[in-house]
Amino acid sequence: MIRKFKKKKTVNLKQFARDISDQLKNKTDNPFLESKIILSHFLEIDIKDLYLFDNIEIDMDKINSIYEAIELRLKNKPLEYIIGYKPFRLLKLKVNEDVLIPRNETEEIIDIIKKFFPRAKTFLDIGTGSGAIALSLVREIENSFCVATDISERALMVAKENAKENNLENKVSFELADLFPLEKKMFDVIVSNPPYIDISNTKLSLISKEIYFEPKIALFAENKGLYFYEKILSKAKDFLLFDGGLVFEVGFNQAKEVVEIGEANNFSCFSLKDLYGVERFVVCRAKMIK
Ligand SMILES: C[S@@+](CC[C@H](N)C(=O)[O-])C[C@H]1O[C@@H](n2cnc3c(N)ncnc32)[C@H](O)[C@@H]1O
Repeated sequence: MIRKFKKKKTVNLKQFARDISDQLKNKTDNPFLESKIILSHFLEIDIKDLYLFDNIEIDMDKINSIYEAIELRLKNKPLEYIIGYKPFRLLKLKVNEDVLIPRNETEEIIDIIKKFFPRAKTFLDIGTGSGAIALSLVREIENSFCVATDISERALMVAKENAKENNLENKVSFELADLFPLEKKMFDVIVSNPPYIDISNTKLSLISKEIYFEPKIALFAENKGLYFYEKILSKAKDFLLFDGGLVFEVGFNQAKEVVEIGEANNFSCFSLKDLYGVERFVVCRAKMIK
């Protein structure tokens, strides 16, 4: 019997991490962290254990995968699409180019819902993408249920996989729909992080080069980026239980306008800052009729 030996190379991991970091230093704010994430992912070593061994033998095919990952990163492909996942609160979410990469600030929306709607158990997540918000809500709030819509069939496929991977399939119903579910149901909270970049914005590269890899349908909206807030707020009352409310993520300069759209639709609204100090969230409740 002929035994095949895989080609291997002896590598000093600390040095390898420094070399990768050097290559990435003009591409990212966190080159060293990214280099460790790449090594940890492709070598299947927990990030905290990376430096337990100085010199290790690595299969050449793994080394080649690492070099390919660096090439892609140098071409601005987001790290999360390269490694195929993004940690989000308690979940590890699969991501690919069919879904927006959930942002760190979006994690805060779950705390906001818990704080301002502490008894809420039924949720509608509009534009669920990878399922980040819907899945975190049902994972973290006991006896809760979420309907999650998206207009992208491919995004819903990713969200459903994430539900399965995280054992949450029975707690979320994913629906292909234009904003609201087809069947009329009532919810405690409607939450949405809709597309909000002004479609006429021509200076996208100022936001980031990575954004070109993300699905356009997840990013852009008409009417200075406000289209989806207007649509959702004008129809929300048909889907909200008494004492229910809405929580939105908004673009960095949109909070005031979204509050105004809410007030014009008979909601009382206020905005909140995210961890970076940007007015990022808007909370609305139906105004009480006297
Ligand atoms: C900004 S992404 C948010 C994804 C995810 N909720 C998150 O926070 O990471 C917006 C999502 O809205 C979806 N979307 C765009 N237009 C829509 C529509 N008319 N109805 C439902 N979903 C829509 C996009 O496909 C995308 O998944």
